[in-house]
Amino acid sequence: MNAPVPGATAWVVRRAVPNDCEAVAAAEKLLFSDPWSSRAFADLVDRPGVHFLVGMVDDTVAGYAIAYFAADEAELANLAVVPAWHRHGVGRRLLDAVLEAVHRDGAVEIWLEVRESNAAARALYDRAGFTEVGLRRRYYDRPVEDAIVMRRATALR
Ligand SMILES: CC(C)(COP(=O)(O)OP(=O)(O)OC[C@H]1O[C@@H](n2cnc3c(N)ncnc32)[C@H](O)[C@@H]1OP(=O)(O)O)[C@@H](O)C(=O)NCCC(=O)NCCS
Repeated sequence: MNAPVPGATAWVVRRAVPNDCEAVAAAEKLLFSDPWSSRAFADLVDRPGVHFLVGMVDDTVAGYAIAYFAADEAELANLAVVPAWHRHGVGRRLLDAVLEAVHRDGAVEIWLEVRESNAAARALYDRAGFTEVGLRRRYYDRPVEDAIVMRRATALR
C-alpha cells in the first residue's frame, strides 16, 4: 500500500483484524492517559462506517488509525504510533491511508481534535495540510485541556 518505512524489512497498512486488538490496546495504554480498551478496539473491527487501519512493520503493530465516516464527512478518531517507531514516517503513512480510504467512501472533508499541548501531533497534522478551525474548551480529561479542531479536504495532494 505504501513505500517501505526506513529500517523495516516489510511494511504494510491494512485493515485491523480481531487479533491486532491486544497489541493496539497495549500501545494505546503506553501513549494515552485515558486509553481505549482492547474491547473498544475489537468492537470497531469491520464496523460499517469505520476505517480501523494498522501499520505493520515486520508483522508487528507499529501504529494504528481509526476514522468514522458518514455521507461527505469523516472524523479522525484515533491515530498513534508505538514509541519505537516515532519519527519514521509511520504516522504520516497511516494518515495518508485514512485520507485515501475515507475519500474513496465519498467523504470530502475530514476533521479531528488534538490536545493543545500535543506538539508532535499538531506538527504532523499541520504538515499534512490540516488547518485549525476551532477550539473546544476543556474537551479532554486527565489532564483537563482544550482541544484544537482541525480540518482538511480528503483529496490527497
Ligand atoms: C503524533 C504521532 C502519531 C506522530 O507519529 P510519527 O510516526 O512519529 O510521525 P511521522 O514520523 O510520520 O512524522 C511526520 C511529520 O510530523 C511531524 N512530527 C512528528 N513527530 C514530531 C515531533 N515529536 N516533534 C515535531 N514534529 C513532529 C514532523 O513534521 C514529521 O516530519 P519529519 O519527521 O520529516 O520532520 C506520534 O508522535 C504518536 O503516536 N504520539 C502519541 C499519540 C498521539 O498523540 N496521537 C495523536 C492524537 S490526536
